Amino acid sequence: MSPLLSIRNLSIEASGTRHVDDLSLDVAARERVGLIGESGSGKSITGLAVAGLLPRGLRVQGSIRLASQEVVGTPERVIDGLRGRAVAIVFQEPLTALDPLMRVGRQVALPLARRARRDGVGLNGRALDGAVEDLFVEVALPEPRRIARSYPHELSGGQRQRVAIAMALACRPDLLIADEPTTALDVTTQGEVLALLKRLVAERGMALLFIGHDLAVVSQAVDRLVVLQRGIVAETGSTAEVLGAPRHPYTQSLVAAARRFDAALGWPA
Ligand SMILES: Nc1ncnc2c1ncn2[C@@H]1O[C@H](COP(=O)(O)OP(=O)(O)OP(=O)(O)O)[C@@H](O)[C@H]1O
Ligand SMILES: [Mg+2]
Repeated sequence: MSPLLSIRNLSIEASGTRHVDDLSLDVAARERVGLIGESGSGKSITGLAVAGLLPRGLRVQGSIRLASQEVVGTPERVIDGLRGRAVAIVFQEPLTALDPLMRVGRQVALPLARRARRDGVGLNGRALDGAVEDLFVEVALPEPRRIARSYPHELSGGQRQRVAIAMALACRPDLLIADEPTTALDVTTQGEVLALLKRLVAERGMALLFIGHDLAVVSQAVDRLVVLQRGIVAETGSTAEVLGAPRHPYTQSLVAAARRFDAALGWPA
């Protein structure tokens, strides 16, 4: 069976500069893969390319097959049919995903109703409100009814990220792309949101492409790591292999830095 996501020889260029160079990567159904690298290494644009969301001005070559559909060079209307159903993205800053002028309950209701329509089910009125609240309970939001009536600015950063996760889940995607979903949060909230994502991915049988720069965080959530350095894949392997015996000097420096950080906190290696 072909993998859920199959990226082959992906290159992304802007004004003659190659930001992603010949990247190949697979994510099987239910697999959890981490894409890790320093700032500017091309992680986010790779994630955006998968969802067909690259800004204009970035030129893509190669192939991205998602749920057996080619994404590169495919008309927007076809890709729109994949978004939500095949792939959904959670971004670093939840405010970028949320409309500041709409109550968050309604923002989650829209994709829920859309998914129901696609499945040939009518979902509206009280049943739709109930489905929104159920989803808020699933992402462990307190007082789901009150939260549903709130605007984004009335919520904490962690609550906003939980709403953004609920929005992504509303479409029941096969693949969830999480692009630094915990980086904007304080350390305690980071841990809670990471645990939530792990639980939801397992319970819903989703595949996960977890993008981040922090090896210690990303490796907690994934089975396999792809290390990106200046747009080029430096190393790939199971999380245990890469952490235990990194082969590439860049990965070795990442692992050493993560160890030093743990040691400074007095945590066992
Ligand atoms: N719209 C754009 N136009 C031109 N260049 C872009 C555009 N978006 C991103 N880039 C460039 O592509 C490169 C990779 O950017 P990307 O956002 O993927 O990095 P990243 O690995 O996600 O970094 P970070 O960890 O800081 O989020 C950067 O050099 C960036 O300047
Ligand atoms: Mg990024």
